[in-house]
Amino acid sequence: MKDPESFRRDAVERIRAEVPERALVATSGGIDSTAAAVLAREALGDRARSLFVDTGLLRAGEIEGVRALGSTLRLPIEIVSAAPRFFGALEGVTDPEEKRRRIGESFIRLFESEAERFGTDRLVQGTIAPDWIESGGQLRDTIKTHHNVGGVPKDSRLRLVEPLRDLYKDEVRALATHLGIPNAERQPFPGPGLAVRVAGPVTTDRVATARTADRIVTEEVEAEIAAGRLPRPWQYFAVLLPVRSVGVTGDNRIFGEAVSVRIVESIDAMTATAMAPRPELLRRIAERVTRELSGKVTRVLYDVTDKPPATIEWE
Ligand code: XMP
Repeated sequence: MKDPESFRRDAVERIRAEVPERALVATSGGIDSTAAAVLAREALGDRARSLFVDTGLLRAGEIEGVRALGSTLRLPIEIVSAAPRFFGALEGVTDPEEKRRRIGESFIRLFESEAERFGTDRLVQGTIAPDWIESGGQLRDTIKTHHNVGGVPKDSRLRLVEPLRDLYKDEVRALATHLGIPNAERQPFPGPGLAVRVAGPVTTDRVATARTADRIVTEEVEAEIAAGRLPRPWQYFAVLLPVRSVGVTGDNRIFGEAVSVRIVESIDAMTATAMAPRPELLRRIAERVTRELSGKVTRVLYDVTDKPPATIEWE
């Protein structure tokens, strides 16, 4: 990317050229899709309709955050409630690639019907370079099917418009700042949401557990950053593992699941290093997670693995 302003001008022109009439815009509240939505709005005005899908797989506070983002940017974002569709599609699925495939397909089917209602076949997405490079689009074997790439079935009548497809994450951040998108430093969140942070079966109960654990990790890490005791990581989150271990509270023996805490630094997500936070931070997270999720989580682990050989997400 040369500079954000000339990228913006070129992208607006390209969107106009690729969208003869109207387009739906898939937004997730993340910086990639928000930047794409802002560019589409600039290019098309009311001929662009931005949708945010409530999959039931979102983090705590996310819908409120998207509403606030929309009003800050004066970007109308419609929220579509679709949790039953996603949990239905994931029933009995434990394989990470299958989860991603089914979520991607559910998104596409939902967007197909919304597009038909809006009278278009164009879908603007915030796909960026690492998404398709890691999805086997070029050069590399398939590592993970990123839902916004792998989930588009060949028979779909939707035609994708991807204004950011040549950008890397640090470039998108510069662009987002330039476009006035707040919190451009906010951490990325995968499209398949908590489904890939709940290793094993995806049930409403397990997702709720992962959501609470994730909120605790987020609160504690942010307090640590605010106190100047931790440089801002690239990402920090909790993963619920399908591993049971024995715990004890008072006289009760509990056979609960385990939560893994991940705190990594990275420049562009292609590689990442597990950070070494203060032991006090990890102890406090462990204490809160096991107390606030008493009866469900009996063990908290810290993931010290770099990428490679691991990936940032577990699935
Ligand atoms: P991995 O786990 O492959 O993740 O090291 C690299 C970065 O990408 C994010 N990620 C995703 N982003 N759709 C996205 O838009 C996805 O399906 C997806 N999966 C992973 C991940 O959080 C990390 O920042």
